[in-house]
Order: sequence, then structure tokens, then C-alpha cells
Amino acid sequence: MQRRAFLQQTASALALTSLFGRAAADAYQQAFKAALPQAPWLAGLESVAQPAYDTTVAVSGRWPAALSGTLYRNGPARHDIGNFRYKHWFDGDGMLHAYRFDGKTLRHQAKMVMTTKYTEELAAGRPLYPGFASPVPNPAPVSSADAVNVANISVLHHHDKLLALWEAGSPWEMNADTLDTLGTYSFSADTDGAPFSAHPRVEPDGTLWNFGYLSAAGLLALWHIDAQGRVVKVGTVPAAPMGMPHDFVVTDRHIVVLLCPLHYRGIEGSTFLDAHEWAGDAPTRVLVVDKNDFSSYRWFELPAQWVFHFGNAWEDSQGVIHFDAARAPTPTLMQDNFRRYMRGDAGEERPSQHYSYRIDTRQGKATESALFEQSFATEFPVIDPRVSCRRNDRLVMLHRKATSKAAHPMLTGVSTYSYSTDRLESYDYPATVIPEEHLYVPRPGSAPESDGWIVGTALDFARLETQLNVFDAQHLQDGPIASAALPYTLPLGLHGKFVA
Ligand SMILES: [Fe+2]
Repeated sequence: MQRRAFLQQTASALALTSLFGRAAADAYQQAFKAALPQAPWLAGLESVAQPAYDTTVAVSGRWPAALSGTLYRNGPARHDIGNFRYKHWFDGDGMLHAYRFDGKTLRHQAKMVMTTKYTEELAAGRPLYPGFASPVPNPAPVSSADAVNVANISVLHHHDKLLALWEAGSPWEMNADTLDTLGTYSFSADTDGAPFSAHPRVEPDGTLWNFGYLSAAGLLALWHIDAQGRVVKVGTVPAAPMGMPHDFVVTDRHIVVLLCPLHYRGIEGSTFLDAHEWAGDAPTRVLVVDKNDFSSYRWFELPAQWVFHFGNAWEDSQGVIHFDAARAPTPTLMQDNFRRYMRGDAGEERPSQHYSYRIDTRQGKATESALFEQSFATEFPVIDPRVSCRRNDRLVMLHRKATSKAAHPMLTGVSTYSYSTDRLESYDYPATVIPEEHLYVPRPGSAPESDGWIVGTALDFARLETQLNVFDAQHLQDGPIASAALPYTLPLGLHGKFVA
């Protein structure tokens, strides 16, 4: 597609997707405060105590000499503005964290992402703009998606830029050393403001692919960016009824996007989440796009389901695309539980189960099968980044076992799985610890997937500390080989990236 046409479609769609909110009484803050003493896990959903941190602590255990670098993480952190509390976990304003370690100490730096929304609401002392699922009293008009961009989902380190990512607007550029916010980031003048999802896929050579959704226009935007950060091509695919895709996968030939049947129905007088309707009798539509030509695509179908996160994808010589994902039967976790959390209520358990998928591009058929028992719930699947968009053998993920005695409703441990040996290894955290996303960090110089560490943060709500733990990826079940604990808790976050 020509860039001018892409820009025009994007601009009109962004205008149409302006969010509107309506006034609502705020009982959430009171309910949350009342629930906290009986449910100490809710410490992970309190507003962050400070707008910035810079703390250095000693590490304990056998910290590997070769493991040195920075883990950048992002997540919703400010959940309250004065007497107003957001009504959904995903509405919290983003805070960017840097965990810098050298084998002796851990330095934790963090700063709020100074988005337009955060900055203006801080000055006003009250909410001005509606959130993803939070109506606000007397909302100000929303001029663009970036006016309500909270930059709170993930982080990307690419072509020497550190970018805090939301999913419906621009990346926010951050100073990698100071974590100061530099402003919204444009990959090119004619893609300014176009939606850039929080889950770009980066190939081993640095080639970057991403998508973004333009719900009101019924379009899915696609991005192809080179290792130097230059836009190679952009395009749109007509995809109505639009779902709310959060992640996608890429093989050496194709882009695959699942449009789960959480259909966009229009947004008048509601929030963005409420503008969607679950159509449980409709299929999940699977879009397969040629990486070389965004105008060449096919659709496949799978049963209705909800997927936040995929592990990886690859393609065999018979034209079969293989990928895996944490699959839930419905989006109830997002539509219900993540609202309840904000008023101090865990709600019913809504586990997602890990599935592997096959799309036979020659037979025109998509199929799925569960990888593990239903009693073993998973989320946050990751791989060795050196096999991204290529065939992988190993998977790292968080899990929750049905037999868990955890004193909280979140994920409870970390697992690794090998497809070739069918071996699943797990480590269960103590009952009062909530793990966040754990990443596979390769040992420098090692062959892909052969040697490395699993590195992740966790909230210990009994000790009131946020920890960083390191596991030997070959001996996960032995527990952390090294750890560092901060003398405070941080709000539970979402995704990170390790930079050696
Ligand atoms: Fe995500």
C-alpha cells in the first residue's frame, strides 16, 4: 500500500476511535482499601508509592559471572488519581523499570512514563480522560488515541531506542540511562500516531514486525521495520468485525494474527472495552499474511477462544505453520476478573491452557490441541530470543497448578518445556509470592537454546518486597541460584526485555 493511503486511513480511523466515557460513582477505592488487610496479595494492585526509584541492593546466591545487563520492565503502576480509582487493571499509568545487575549488586531504577494523559491529570489532580475500561466523571474530549495512551504494557529495545509500548497508539521514547520520557516516537513522518502493538516480533537479524488495530475502521495495520529502525513497508488488511488482538506470531514467510470473537460494536457512551461484545458462537478468525506482500493474505478458522499471548511460530517444508499460545475459553479474565481486582475481589479462577496450533496452508485447515493437562494453567510464554520466528524447541512460561495452595489468585510458578523430549520442569514459588513474566536470557556465546538463565521478578507480599530471581535454565526445578530483594513492593507489571 502507498504510504499516503495508509496515513489517510490511519488518521480517519484514529479520529473515529476516540474514546468517550461517562460519569460513574467511585466505590472501587473504598472497596479495595477495605479488602487489603484480609487479602495481602492486593499489594500488587496498589498504586505505586513513589513516582521514581533509584535503589541499589546486594545480590545473594551464586550470581553467574556472565550474567550482566539490564532487565527493562513496564506495567500499570498508578491506579488512583486522588479519590478516583481506575476500574480495570489495564488502565493504570505505565511505569518503566530498569533492573541493572553486574553480579554483585542490583540497581533498581524506575520512573513514570510522562505521557500526555499522566502529565495533564497530575497537574489537574483528577482524571480528565476515560481509560480502556474506566469511565471518568466529566471527561475532556479525546483528540487522538495518544491523548489517552498510558504506555503501560511492554518495552522494546531496538536500534538503540528504548520504547515504552501501549497497544493502540504510539510508542513512547525513553532515555535508557535516566528513564526520562522523551516523547512519542515516530518510525517515520507518514506513520505518525499509527497504532503499534505492545508485542512486536523481532527476528534474530533485528527485522521487526508488528500490527495495530483500527477498530472503528475495521482495519488491521501491519508494520515491517528493519534493524536500523527504518520503515520498509506498512499496510492495512480489512478485518471487520475487529477483535482486540494483543499479540501475534511471525514465521520466516508469514504473519499470523488471531482475531478472537470479541467483536468491536461501536463505542458511543461507553469505554473501549465495553464497545466489544463476546460472540461465543462465532469462530476465531485466523489471518495469514505474506511477509513480502501485505496485500496477499488468507483467512482460516478456529473455534471461539481468547488468547493474550503466543510463544513462537515456525513453518515446515510441507507448508504447515506451527505456533503455540496460552488459550482461554472466553475473555472473562479481562472483562470481569481484572475489574474485580481493582475493587479488591479476586473473582472466580479463569485459567488459560497452553495449546499448540497447526495451519496447513495447502489443505486450507487450522487445528489446535492442548499441550498440557487442563489442571496446568499457563501464561506469559517466552522463548530464547535467538530463535524468534524460527523453529524453537524450548518454551518458558508461568504456570498455576489446580492443586496450588497459593494465598493469591495469580500465577504461582515458572516452567520450561522441551518439545523434542516432551519434558516439563517446574518451580513453584512460595504461597505468598506472585511471579511476574520470566525471560530466557542466553549465556553469551552459547548455541541457541543450549545454555542460559531464566530471569524474572516476583512480588513477595508476606515480606513486602519485590524480588529479582535467577534460575539456571537447565536446572529450573532446583530453584533460584541467585536473588536480590528490594526493600519495597512494586505494583504487578506486565512485560520486559533483557538487554545484555
Ligand atoms: Fe501482553
